[in-house]
Amino acid sequence: MSRKKILVTGGAGFIGGNFVQYMVDKYPQYDIYNMDLLTYAGDLTKHKYIETKDNYFFIKADIADRETILELFKKEQFDYVVHFAAESHVDRSITDPGIFVQTNVLGTQVLLDSSRAVEVTKFVHVSTDEVYGELDFDPDTFFTEETPLQPNSPYSASKASSDLLVRAYHETYGLPVNITRCSNNYGPYHFPEKLIPLTISRVLNDQKVPVYGDGKNIRDWLHVIDHCAAIDLVLHEGVNGEVYNVGGHNEKTNLEVVKTIIKTLDKSKELIEFVKDRLGHDKRYAIDPTKLEGLGWQPTYTFETGIAQTIQWYLDNKEWWEQIISGDYQNYFEKQYSINK
Ligand code: NAD
Ligand code: TYD
Repeated sequence: MSRKKILVTGGAGFIGGNFVQYMVDKYPQYDIYNMDLLTYAGDLTKHKYIETKDNYFFIKADIADRETILELFKKEQFDYVVHFAAESHVDRSITDPGIFVQTNVLGTQVLLDSSRAVEVTKFVHVSTDEVYGELDFDPDTFFTEETPLQPNSPYSASKASSDLLVRAYHETYGLPVNITRCSNNYGPYHFPEKLIPLTISRVLNDQKVPVYGDGKNIRDWLHVIDHCAAIDLVLHEGVNGEVYNVGGHNEKTNLEVVKTIIKTLDKSKELIEFVKDRLGHDKRYAIDPTKLEGLGWQPTYTFETGIAQTIQWYLDNKEWWEQIISGDYQNYFEKQYSINK
């Protein structure tokens, strides 16, 4: 029997990167192809230890480059596609929405067409709970797979658009797809523009941590490894055409998250700086994962165990995030946070 080929798009980024490592280790019988454009968010140094493995391959390409992508699919005949590649940062989508449409919508359509052309066995589209919009602070309300899509940011609107295309390719052409919608991830190799790694890196450098608005917005945090396990399960067991929400009931206000990190690192709360709120800032996200649990998924980390592991990882891997925050990131930070003053 020939070896299965799994294409992972965006495998140089945070979640895709963790997923590539997870799959290369877990499935020596699969060939894992990491395809990534290596934008500001992509970095291959994280894959040093798998680069020498026989079942790992890297391809540099833009998912929105139709000709190249179609040619690649025809040459490699991928069996499975797990699609992470995206512009992923809400703040960047507020200042520059165009690239979000280009990559997240057009790029997804190119991948769907290419997947159709070679008749893949499964296309897993990794989406976000942010497509559902926001919840109010009533702790008994959750996003289910039936919640209507009401995206509020250019980022979530571009993801919702791509979700609808994925759905349409299933309904119209019978493409075997699944859509996963996950809550906020955290863990190793998280790019330090997002709340948790930004807070850890700044607190470790005794720098102020910008908290938007009153810090009371709520996010539902999931450790990236629990997300990887969920996608692996959906890839193998997901019913074609179905959507699966991924989340582990770990709701925290932003202020609680920042205070936990400061306390764990034994630093002063004086580092917290309240800044102007994000435009269109969603109040609360919270996932009902019942459907995925029905496939046999359970998270292994609580927020408490996961954040402790993550902080320790950032302490042990300073060279990784220091190389990132010493480059273009400084310009991004100056520009972004002058808006929030
Ligand atoms: P990330 O920004 O860390 O990584 C994105 C990767 O995609 C990078 O390696 C980048 O180089 C690559 N990429 C960007 N444009 C590309 C293009 N045109 N062609 C090929 N590669 C390109 O993102 P992430 O946090 O790892 O998120 C991965 C996916 O998961 C995204 O689709 C995101 O919407 C979704 N998601 C993220 C979260 C979260 O909390 N981070 C939660 C739910 C869903
Ligand atoms: P973020 O990590 O950008 O993820 P998302 O916007 O996809 O939820 O932000 C998480 C929460 O933290 C969100 O409510 C915005 C807030 N936040 C801050 O208060 N300060 C910051 O510097 C950042 C990046 C985010």
